[in-house]
Amino acid sequence: MTKRISIGAIHPRRDFLRMALASPCLWALANCDLGLAEDVDPNLVEPTAEEADAAISAMIRTSATDVSSERLDAAHTLQRSVDRLRASEFGDYFKSSPEEAARWENERAILRYLNASFDKALGEIRETKAEENTVVFWHLYNMGYVVKTPTQTIAVDIKHRRASELIPFVDYLLVTHNHGDHFTTSFCDAMTAAGKPVVSNFIKNDWLVEEDEREIEIGDSRIRLKRVDHNKTLIKYVTTFEIDCGPKTDHFVVYHVGDACDVSQLTPKAPVDVFIPHLAVGLDVPKAVNETIKPKQTFLSHILELGHLIDKWRWSYDYGYNQVKRCANDSVILPVWGEKIVCSRG
Ligand SMILES: [Fe+2]
Ligand SMILES: [Fe+2]
Repeated sequence: MTKRISIGAIHPRRDFLRMALASPCLWALANCDLGLAEDVDPNLVEPTAEEADAAISAMIRTSATDVSSERLDAAHTLQRSVDRLRASEFGDYFKSSPEEAARWENERAILRYLNASFDKALGEIRETKAEENTVVFWHLYNMGYVVKTPTQTIAVDIKHRRASELIPFVDYLLVTHNHGDHFTTSFCDAMTAAGKPVVSNFIKNDWLVEEDEREIEIGDSRIRLKRVDHNKTLIKYVTTFEIDCGPKTDHFVVYHVGDACDVSQLTPKAPVDVFIPHLAVGLDVPKAVNETIKPKQTFLSHILELGHLIDKWRWSYDYGYNQVKRCANDSVILPVWGEKIVCSRG
């Protein structure tokens, strides 16, 4: 029997915060250091080091394409740690020194997993050679992916405190929009300093693309960019990337749409091999998967954004698995941090 997480009763002040923070402006203020503390359910117990290590190795051993009870149990163990970690604490961890980070990782299972999954992915990114007609993906965090083809390694929406370690292995970086859960200035600056393209609609560099639609080429990649809405107020705020990975992949297409909210705006020109959408920004993912885009595979993303408040836009593993079920399509999966997915064309 799968163990379920009890979040417990909602504190009256949290109820007030929930209503107050429904306003985007107030929510933005709350993410500043104005003293709005998040309540943590006192009944939730942090996993022990042994439980954390077992859950992490289960996550690494199991696969998103076969969601076993072992993976679900591990996810639920880690979820306890997610539900105890305040956004402000994640912020402190994110900017901490390696020594301080190690202390956080000893104490918090979810941060231990974040670090261990990065070690795993980094080692594999370094060692893996993508065969012809094959594209390999690693999910790092939130909507962050590294995509390796036979000729290039591409990074999209990377936010990670150790992101700079990717630089020797990545050819270019794509950033969908100017929200702090999709990029860090330090990584973008370091990529630029290393002479690697950083493509976005807001970073003032040689690769700034402000037009509504444009096509660019970087090495073997041909990338179609299109600006779409994030929500009713952030119009054309997100740039979607339709990446043709080139002849060595038989023109495999990756379609990363960041925080795009409107399925009618998602109009890729070519058949999509892998579609990477936000699972809870209002986008009708089942419609995109089954009626409009009909990709070969979909990687539902944007769970566990630890920079969001515990009960505000920090979608859980269970939320993610329920969204997978709603799609009613076996090609839809929920990758976890560090997950490697090998896709072949044909
Ligand atoms: Fe966003
Ligand atoms: Fe986001």
